[in-house]
Amino acid sequence: MTIALAPDAPPRPKPKPGILDIEPYVGGKAKIEGVAQPIKLSSNENILGCSPLATAAFAETASRLNLYPDGQSNGLRQAVAEKFGLEPGRLIFGCGSDEIFTLLAQVYCEPGDNVVQGRYGFLAYRIAARGAGAEVRFAAEPNLRVDVDALLAEVDDRTRIIYLANPANPTGSWISGAEVRRLHALLPPNVILVLDGAYAEFAEDPAYDGGFDLARGAENVVVTRTFSKIYGLAALRVGWGYAPIALIDAMERIRAPFNVNLPAQAAAVAALGDDDFVERSRALVRTWRPWLAQQLGGAGLEVFPSEANFVLARVPAASGKTAAEAEAYLASRGVLVRGLANYGLGDALRITIGLEAHNRAVAEAVSAFMQG
Ligand SMILES: Cc1ncc(COP(=O)(O)O)c(C=O)c1O
Repeated sequence: MTIALAPDAPPRPKPKPGILDIEPYVGGKAKIEGVAQPIKLSSNENILGCSPLATAAFAETASRLNLYPDGQSNGLRQAVAEKFGLEPGRLIFGCGSDEIFTLLAQVYCEPGDNVVQGRYGFLAYRIAARGAGAEVRFAAEPNLRVDVDALLAEVDDRTRIIYLANPANPTGSWISGAEVRRLHALLPPNVILVLDGAYAEFAEDPAYDGGFDLARGAENVVVTRTFSKIYGLAALRVGWGYAPIALIDAMERIRAPFNVNLPAQAAAVAALGDDDFVERSRALVRTWRPWLAQQLGGAGLEVFPSEANFVLARVPAASGKTAAEAEAYLASRGVLVRGLANYGLGDALRITIGLEAHNRAVAEAVSAFMQG
């Protein structure tokens, strides 16, 4: 309904051009009507929870909630630097790695500029870029895989950032370290290459490379990581970036002063100290990802190779069934998966790897759906 304003109505606050054209981010569904505890495989969370050390560290902060956190996240900075062998001064911490994407766009893009991402790239990038007034250019992803030449073909003299998730969400696909280095070598040096490693810890192929060495020697590479996935701390919203000093300096000027809260910093430090939990999380995915892929394929879905903690599967048109029907059927059996229509993949589902019983429930339900 449009409300007609009286000709003498006072002027109203008006968003910048383009803001209301941005489609808000919609996360994976979390509820099913009438189901107390659905099996939630719709947001690529860690099904094992988080490290008990992280829970204890979080709880220990309860008596200090009146205090502002360390605005520089110094304890966490030191812990990350040691764990990953990085220079503390080249780290920036965010309210999730999402915040780092936004900071980069805010600092480096103005109207008329553009950012480049894959056709099926993570939704947060386009929101960050458009919020800064930049145009988003989408590179083809044949076979749902990032294509370095297609990315390069979109770059022009107004390109400021390339956002590349490796492994990618929602496809699960990945490119080798050699391909990442080739992309970087062919980029103009004033274009920032963001290597988003939200799922890096799940990628075990020897040809995979998270990009820290490339970033160390470059003036235009940013590696981002998150505590939301393998560390199981999505609720606390902690991410970080490793970037050249000049980029850190620029981003720090507009970062909100206390963007990473106290319990989050404490839990993240503790999580870094629990290699056993990380290894158990990785092992779960290593065991069940190929199993689930094989079961879904056997049931008649087209499954794509993944190096992340989820798989993407297409419901073939020839089956006479749709991904939306599959999603609804799974929900009727208490299982939440992610429909991908907002990624332009209306025929596909993204399914997070769960515990054995969850994976078996998914396989069984998909098989029943396809036969039904
Ligand atoms: C590719 C990718 N990057 C980044 C993120 C966001 O991470 P964070 O929770 O740290 O904001 C996600 C979360 O789903 C993701 O899929």
